[in-house]
Amino acid sequence: MAQTHFGYENVDESEKAGRVRRVFDSVASRYDLMNDLMSMGLHRVWKHYTVTVANVREGERVLDIAGGTGDLARAFAKKVGPRGTVVLSDINQAMLGAGRDRLLDAGVVLPTVACDAEKLPFADASFDLVSVAFGLRNMTHKEAALAEMCRVLRPGGRLLVLEFSKVAAPLAKPYDWYSFNVIPLIGRLVAKDADSYRYLAESIRMHPDQNALKAMMKGAGFGHVDVHNLAAGVVALHAGIKC
Ligand SMILES: C[S@@+](CC[C@H](N)C(=O)[O-])C[C@H]1O[C@@H](n2cnc3c(N)ncnc32)[C@H](O)[C@@H]1O
Repeated sequence: MAQTHFGYENVDESEKAGRVRRVFDSVASRYDLMNDLMSMGLHRVWKHYTVTVANVREGERVLDIAGGTGDLARAFAKKVGPRGTVVLSDINQAMLGAGRDRLLDAGVVLPTVACDAEKLPFADASFDLVSVAFGLRNMTHKEAALAEMCRVLRPGGRLLVLEFSKVAAPLAKPYDWYSFNVIPLIGRLVAKDADSYRYLAESIRMHPDQNALKAMMKGAGFGHVDVHNLAAGVVALHAGIKC
């Protein structure tokens, strides 16, 4: 059986999705509060930047993958207007349920689809833009997921991958200290789950860095890929064009 990593642990590939599901089942109800606390609100700035770069126009068709509680989907829905479509998707029912409730509370009704990014249930070339924020890191076969994202985009369509990445060297030590001490502590106090937040810190270290992810996107069929470092590389936005 092929092996992969779940944080710093080596696991059978067949185990990873179940372990990831348990993480998000456990944190779904506290997910938004935890994001604000851990990032000191910065995740809102990173997502706002992503929506700006996306430059979505009225009438466009957008798919938000691993959309969780729906921050990006909600912002895109405003941009595409009533003639456009935004689909909120995620593999996890608890996250998707929290997202759908939150959107409904805000008066936003979007199609919501439970699906695995590695096997998307959409026809070829059905979207103008696909986004995935802080989701790719959790997927078992990242190349397969990126190839699926490429398949469902029309030629010339854009993929935006917002994800933790490799921080600039001078910040590495304080960032490690914060990640392995403060984040699991906040997780224990607020979400009653330190382990899931230790997994978060470990999974960030195991994720491909800026150049490796750019190469993976090119390999998946994105002819042009731009990389935008945010917060000194704590996070990077990869913007690819299917061409
Ligand atoms: C850290 S959350 C990100 C949620 C949201 N995009 C955001 O930025 O706040 C990661 C999400 O990825 C989802 N996910 C993990 N593996 C997935 C897969 N194979 N296909 C689709 N979604 C997946 C999880 O269920 C979870 O909701």
